[in-house]
Amino acid sequence: MILITGGAGYIGAHVALELMNKDEDVLILDNLCNSQRSAIDRISTLAGRRPGFVQGDVRNRHLLDTLLRDYPVDAVVHCAGLKAVGESVHEPLRYYDNNVGGSLTLCQAMAQAGVFTLVFSSSATVYGDCTTMPINESCATGQPTNPYGMSKLMAENIMKSVASSDPRWSIGLLRYFNPIGAHPSGLLGEAPLNQPNNLLPYLLQVASGQREALSVFGTDYATPDGTGVRDYIHIVDLAQGHTCALEALGQRSGVNIWNLGTGRGYSVLELVSAFERVSGVPIPLAFKARRPGDVTCCWADPQKAADELAWRARHSLETMLADAWRWQCNQLQTEWVQQAN
Ligand code: NAD
Ligand code: UFG
Repeated sequence: MILITGGAGYIGAHVALELMNKDEDVLILDNLCNSQRSAIDRISTLAGRRPGFVQGDVRNRHLLDTLLRDYPVDAVVHCAGLKAVGESVHEPLRYYDNNVGGSLTLCQAMAQAGVFTLVFSSSATVYGDCTTMPINESCATGQPTNPYGMSKLMAENIMKSVASSDPRWSIGLLRYFNPIGAHPSGLLGEAPLNQPNNLLPYLLQVASGQREALSVFGTDYATPDGTGVRDYIHIVDLAQGHTCALEALGQRSGVNIWNLGTGRGYSVLELVSAFERVSGVPIPLAFKARRPGDVTCCWADPQKAADELAWRARHSLETMLADAWRWQCNQLQTEWVQQAN
């Protein structure tokens, strides 16, 4: 059985579904601070059976001890965490407490229970302002410019220390690039509870008339069209990276770092044009100054994951956007039906 912390969230729910599709038993631990119980129903509908679900906090040591005693957990995928970069600047202690404290408590409980296989949701943000593209795993980690990024780097460092202290540990640090899109069924996707910060969730709300215009942060970057370039990866590809990592960890010990990205960067304006093509919906733009802390370019060298995990991202940008738009339209339809009733 695989325990997924944060398994009701955007990434964790897709990981849960992928694992269940591979006949794994899944137990989800989530405090629902940024997700809803309905995600569990949606996973169940798509998988044809229910994952185990416990509403609770990953910082609750007593709860973790109980779960690891009562369920036959072989490995943990640790997705639980807070992820809003801007918010982390204003509430650093909440971010360190949740993201670093949660990881620490989880590692302590796992060690005590004798569960030593762990996959961690890390982020390309740990590379800081790396200027050599593409970024491979031996690039130095930078000095993240915000508490969110710092909390990911600190959690990584805790896991590295833990792994060097005891050879029984087998840890995968997955450095995600920019996950977007939704499950092709339109039943599972990102459902931000507050105003979105990330490009695609914001764009989707503009496309569906919930917001007036999409701000383009910075038009003077040293890129072909002046806007920032990122490596957008389909959420299903990303989730499959986790199942491959878990499989590979069966034959590996210590800390293993893998980039999960496509290896191809797109600018903000390229992404907007592709969305307009795919959806047929024009997106009003508001050109703004650069957003503090943003890097110019960030895209992955995914070769290590290809060699060691036999994994590669397969979906095109158009598919990511079409799937995201289908999810957004379904969400709106559901809301209208609920309001009409
Ligand atoms: P999300 O907010 O949709 O999911 C996180 C889930 O964790 C939520 O369901 C939330 O309720 C839960 N959670 C938060 N704190 C918890 C706690 N203390 N105990 C139990 N549950 C808790 O976010 P996501 O996009 O699915 O991100 C998952 C992980 O991946 C996060 O750690 C995030 O930092 C990391 N990550 C995300 C991105 C991205 O762009 N989405 C990029 C890099 C890394
Ligand atoms: N952008 C806009 N307008 C918006 C939002 C974003 O122009 O409304 C631009 C940004 O300036 C950037 C690009 O779109 O050039 C992507 O921005 P996102 O906020 O979608 O993503 P980031 O690359 O800033 O960060 C994301 C996650 C981090 C994660 C990182 C990994 O938010 O958690 O990817 O690369 F660490």
